[in-house]
Amino acid sequence: MRYGPWALITGGSEGVGAAFARQLAASGVSSVLVARKPGPLEQTAAEVRSLGVECRTLTIDLTRGVGEILDATADLDLGLLVLNAGANSYGHEFVDGDAAGHQQVVHLNVTAALPLLHHVGARLKARGAGGIITVGSMAGYVGQERIATYAAVKAFQRVLTEGLWLELQPHGVDVLHLVLGLTRTPAMERAGMRLDGAADPEDVAREGLEQLPHGPVHVIGGDATAERLSRHPRDAVVRGFAEMLRGRYER
Ligand SMILES: NC(=O)c1ccc[n+]([C@@H]2O[C@H](COP(=O)([O-])OP(=O)(O)OC[C@H]3O[C@@H](n4cnc5c(N)ncnc54)[C@H](OP(=O)(O)O)[C@@H]3O)[C@@H](O)[C@H]2O)c1
Repeated sequence: MRYGPWALITGGSEGVGAAFARQLAASGVSSVLVARKPGPLEQTAAEVRSLGVECRTLTIDLTRGVGEILDATADLDLGLLVLNAGANSYGHEFVDGDAAGHQQVVHLNVTAALPLLHHVGARLKARGAGGIITVGSMAGYVGQERIATYAAVKAFQRVLTEGLWLELQPHGVDVLHLVLGLTRTPAMERAGMRLDGAADPEDVAREGLEQLPHGPVHVIGGDATAERLSRHPRDAVVRGFAEMLRGRYER
């Protein structure tokens, strides 16, 4: 498997993150799983180990900093980073809600994501091989009431990932923003969402790993809505815009 021998997965204890860990394990890739609650984390780690690979767990709240993750993975040959944790944690109209609540959504999806992408991205670039997946949402294509901050951070992640795809692909690093529609995860079940027709986390992770070499963006199930919202396939948009900007810089 070209993304081994170790993967770092945020939100690796359940849902899509745990599905990534199990499927990577089945291909011989060990993983470091990050989440806040030790119970589900240890349960998933035990499952992963039973598939014959190593698994380390880090009980960490990503909104409080990621230094510990960088330290704990310094000795590992990381081949893959999956930034999965990032569901909306605060649903209020923007001005009626608490500013600190909105800020938490930014902390998880932006403030924690940047140093992880920077640090692991640099390691993968130096190594000349590997992969990065950021997990996005259809919400990132359009502003929405009550989840305005969440929609905005998912747009941020998508655009950032497109840039990283341009920069890292020439160095052998596959980069993908994986856009999810409604998916049957424990977080969604706890939130009380109606989940009829929701995607299965195992299918989502499988499709994500299959599509990783074909960035910068993949929408699960090839959902036509995202395509309509973005008008053109993102690889053509990103490359076309990059070409235009290069021309400008040269003058
Ligand atoms: N499920 C959907 O329908 C759906 C739809 C569109 C996009 N997505 C995207 O898919 C990804 C996964 O979503 P999800 O529904 O599984 O919920 P999620 O809460 O983003 O992910 C669950 C995992 O993340 C961990 N986690 C959450 N907050 C954390 C924090 N502050 N620090 C460390 N770990 C944290 C959870 O464990 P702990 O709770 O123990 O920390 C669990 O392992 C997200 O990026 C979300 O935006 C999901």
